[in-house]
Amino acid sequence: MVKEDFPALQGNIVYLDSAATTQKPRQVIEAIKEYYERYNANVHRGIYELARISTEIYEEAHEKVARFIGAKPQEIIFVKNCTEALNLVAQLLSQLVEGSNIVSTLAEHHSNLLPWWKLSKERGMELRLAEPDADGVIPEERITDLVDEETAIVAFHHSSNVSGHILDPRKVSKAAKKAGAFTVLDAAQSVPHLPVDVRELGVDAIAFSAHKMLGPMGIGVLWMREELLSRMEPVLLGGGIVSSVDLDLSPVWKDPPQRFEAGTPNVAGAYGFSAAIDYLLSHGVEKILPEERKLARALTEGLKERGFKVLGRDHTSIVSFWREDLDPHLLAYKLGREGVCVRSGYHCAEPLHRHLGISGTVRASLYLYNDGEDVERFFEALDRVM
Ligand SMILES: Cc1ncc(COP(=O)(O)O)c(C=O)c1O
Repeated sequence: MVKEDFPALQGNIVYLDSAATTQKPRQVIEAIKEYYERYNANVHRGIYELARISTEIYEEAHEKVARFIGAKPQEIIFVKNCTEALNLVAQLLSQLVEGSNIVSTLAEHHSNLLPWWKLSKERGMELRLAEPDADGVIPEERITDLVDEETAIVAFHHSSNVSGHILDPRKVSKAAKKAGAFTVLDAAQSVPHLPVDVRELGVDAIAFSAHKMLGPMGIGVLWMREELLSRMEPVLLGGGIVSSVDLDLSPVWKDPPQRFEAGTPNVAGAYGFSAAIDYLLSHGVEKILPEERKLARALTEGLKERGFKVLGRDHTSIVSFWREDLDPHLLAYKLGREGVCVRSGYHCAEPLHRHLGISGTVRASLYLYNDGEDVERFFEALDRVM
């Protein structure tokens, strides 16, 4: 019973908001406590035993995350969250880009839209946004159709945080590569749910957050190909990123990832993140999505029977629904009063909703601790609320 590992799920609660953040297993909570009780010291600075252990913990976390996504440890940059990772990659790529347009989609989370909007404005580039189809899904061809020799960057999602639809990144990265464009994948909703191997995706960078995969808040990942990272200057400057600073300054940067991790990092978060990855590996990452799909299908069918419309086609871990005669916030509020935690509104993807002419949806999102009983209790609550 997975649920038993999660203290927050022991009450009378049906938690269906894991796309926003997941609950944490006891193992992760314990790891964070253990770090502060036994290992707390700053990293890469002290030479005493405690500092050595803390540094080791931090470096091991890079190694663990790297193994988890098929990368090299030096390609793993720890940041605050997926949003920071996407902003950072936009700033880093601005050092290398050539071309007159950036391609993205109208179905992106604002975190994978606004950094590209800013970069395109600053550089006088055109921002081309692929439009979703009637189901709110972006077929890969709609992205690749916008790519030409002038495309500098293609930034897109792996799994949508609104429809749960999973794109095939290889189809996009192949076309982008042919055009000489960099590819950035927002993997916030994919890395937590399915096995991801960065070398198979063919993209240049991916971003995700630990808190959406059982880990703590305050730590996220930018993965970027080593050959790109090694050509780039840091954007955040300070301690921990230089191997020397002369009297005239002229700093000599350390190698990645330290070059891009200025200041004191979130070591306790990294330790908790390691514990989360251990938990996912012992559960079996490949088992997560098939289990969620079954529950998502049951949710979708039950909702359609009750007259709701549901975004997307192939529901993975996310089911966003609406009915024109119902206010999504009121519905989510009333479900909340029944102990059912769902999200309502635009889910930080307002352009998608606006394009579809929908003034908000209710989103039920699943993770490995959800089960058939949660689906039953969701519908019991929904029927009472209706
Ligand atoms: C697809 C997607 N991208 C980016 C983000 C931003 O993640 P964070 O808030 O952890 O920075 C989210 C969060 O909901 C998301 O779902």
